[in-house]
Amino acid sequence: MPVTFENNIFHIYNDNVSYCIKLSRYGDLLHMFFGGRIESAEIELIERERSSFSAYEGNDNSYSLDTLPQEYPVHGGQDMRTGAFALEKNGRKEACRLKFLSYNIMKGKPRLSGMPSVYAENDDEFTTLVISTRDSVSGIEVDLYYSISEKYPVICRHAEIRNSSDSGVYITAAASASMDLSAGKYKYMHLHGAWIREKHIEICDVHKGFQGIESRRGSSGSCENPFIALMEADADEDSGRVWGLSLVYSADHRMSIETEQYGTVRVMAGINPADFRWYLERENTFVTPELVMVYSGNGLGEMSRTFHRLYRTRLCRGKYRDEERPILINNWEATYFDFNEEKLLDISRRGAELGMEMFVLDDGWFGARNDDRSSLGDWFVNEEKLPGGLKGLADKVKGQGMKFGLWFEPEMISPESRLFREHPDWALAIDNRERHEARNQYVIDMSRADVVDHLIDAVSKILRSADISYVKWDFNRNLTDVNSAVLPYERQGEVRHRFMLGSYRLMDTLTRMFPDVLFEGCSGGAGRNDPGILYYMPQNWGSDDTDAVERMYIQYGASMVYPASTVCAHVSTVPNHQVMRTTPMKLRGDVASAAVMGYELDLSKIGETEKKEIEEQIERYKRIRATVLFGDMYRLIDPFKERSASWMYVSEDKAKAVVFYFNKLALPNSELRRVRLKGLDCTKRYSVNGNVYTGRTLMEFGLYLPEYEKDFESVVWEIEAL
Ligand code: DGJ
Repeated sequence: MPVTFENNIFHIYNDNVSYCIKLSRYGDLLHMFFGGRIESAEIELIERERSSFSAYEGNDNSYSLDTLPQEYPVHGGQDMRTGAFALEKNGRKEACRLKFLSYNIMKGKPRLSGMPSVYAENDDEFTTLVISTRDSVSGIEVDLYYSISEKYPVICRHAEIRNSSDSGVYITAAASASMDLSAGKYKYMHLHGAWIREKHIEICDVHKGFQGIESRRGSSGSCENPFIALMEADADEDSGRVWGLSLVYSADHRMSIETEQYGTVRVMAGINPADFRWYLERENTFVTPELVMVYSGNGLGEMSRTFHRLYRTRLCRGKYRDEERPILINNWEATYFDFNEEKLLDISRRGAELGMEMFVLDDGWFGARNDDRSSLGDWFVNEEKLPGGLKGLADKVKGQGMKFGLWFEPEMISPESRLFREHPDWALAIDNRERHEARNQYVIDMSRADVVDHLIDAVSKILRSADISYVKWDFNRNLTDVNSAVLPYERQGEVRHRFMLGSYRLMDTLTRMFPDVLFEGCSGGAGRNDPGILYYMPQNWGSDDTDAVERMYIQYGASMVYPASTVCAHVSTVPNHQVMRTTPMKLRGDVASAAVMGYELDLSKIGETEKKEIEEQIERYKRIRATVLFGDMYRLIDPFKERSASWMYVSEDKAKAVVFYFNKLALPNSELRRVRLKGLDCTKRYSVNGNVYTGRTLMEFGLYLPEYEKDFESVVWEIEAL
């Protein structure tokens, strides 16, 4: 059993990691350690007298929760740092104290009710410790869940809050997890950005005081992905201690880091408490989202590979989890809203001729949607544009040897739509205030069960009406006017989380109803690209920015947490529609083929040379696709620091690898550079684009990069063991 409780210490461990919690003499849970595997009996937690400004226990001034490292600190008591949990009862803030009640160790990993989470395929893969705590005055009980993986250096945490008191209470903060790390020099990485500039890497020193990241947008957002990596100051790509924290949640999140007066670092993650206030009725339970905590003693690279393996195989689900994804051609940048059946079939036919495998009709097919000002919510086909309906189009596409995919944006409603005219109260709105439009649309109140039921019905009717193999599920604006017509005033603080639970129910129901459909998440690019969505949809649109240079940054940043099988990348036209940059077809194809590759351009407008290039790209992608999607990823050159980018994938058996190198702008008369490969078998002999080297040589000496640099140059090395 990888969980023990001896001498008042819980030790949660596998071969690579240990997590230790001490049950204190006053019944508090104190955080002792999370890091490489140790023997818990050999460590102790020193308590020492601190300044009189910190409240202590009775007259025992060597024991203060204000300075001791805690597991799930509570707001309002001895501890004056940020609380993971805060409660209001009878109209006033409570100062609770969660004391140990009991514990339970079980095989496997329970699923979180109504929410996404990492899962076990069989009970041997995880062991779960549940520690129950209770505040004796309010009667509130909090169960802390810790699931440790047998295979990976991973602990998944969440909390379940039960109201066993005699009346309702308000929860005003409920983090998924908190952890107090010992004093030291730390830095942290986060993935920040904006629309068309998602997941840019920033590494900051952890300073004294409070810092962190958050979203208040109603979705995880393009601005801050729900992820941070806390790093010891000397950690880098391949060495040093790193704690990767990734929240399985798609709405408002907060991840904070707080260095207190004695240097201890409190890391906390969960639902953003800023706009959260949840009424918990008697006998009811509130379940927080799950926080996935990865420990790596060998830098960021190992942390990312752990996230990739775990998320690819035990977060993503369904038929496509382990399947190679079809190379698609999407009509969005080719036609926007201006298409008819003939135009679409022409793009699809040309795609088929070049070796593509699926045609995707993106937006504009429903209601009276000829631009982005109308029809969201009217999920019935526009027969003026598609006289044979979706079935007619899908059958013709199929006749060309292609699969057929379709775009939806279920959680939105256009003011100009039949649905809004019939149900104006279905859009989020604050009483008598005017609603705010964004992209000319409102947001549907997903916190309402009747609305979710309606959407299940409307979307499933369409999915049944034709042979549809793929759905692109978009979400093109942030939430404003967050208020539900069906909840009383004092419960509006629940709407943001209830919205997300409603969206998760919709995603869960539809993905279960249509197990053969490949679902792709999207949100004006990657505005809701988080582990929560990946539980329902095994891939996500990487960004609306299809420029190959911008994509180097975005895909490199995404690789911190997300496996290549979840990141979709398209080759588009030049000048690029987002940044107006002109890059060669080779670079565009090479960058896209380092992820889930697709195309998004008008194939009737390309010349013979480009056609030939595309054909070759597709042939090559079909050869390397399994290695890219399911191999281990190693980052080689960081575009945020250098003028080029490089990374590689190695198949699990180390028999195949593929290395990508992309240059931004050439340095005139540059130095001769080599790139050292990683992750190969030293003893194997590999063929590399016609030459033969041992794995050891490739990893020690490396491969020469192009001798005379050119702007936007790229090289792809296909590597195979002999
Ligand atoms: C935003 C998406 O990110 C695009 O790829 C495209 O699907 C448009 N929405 C369609 O409206």
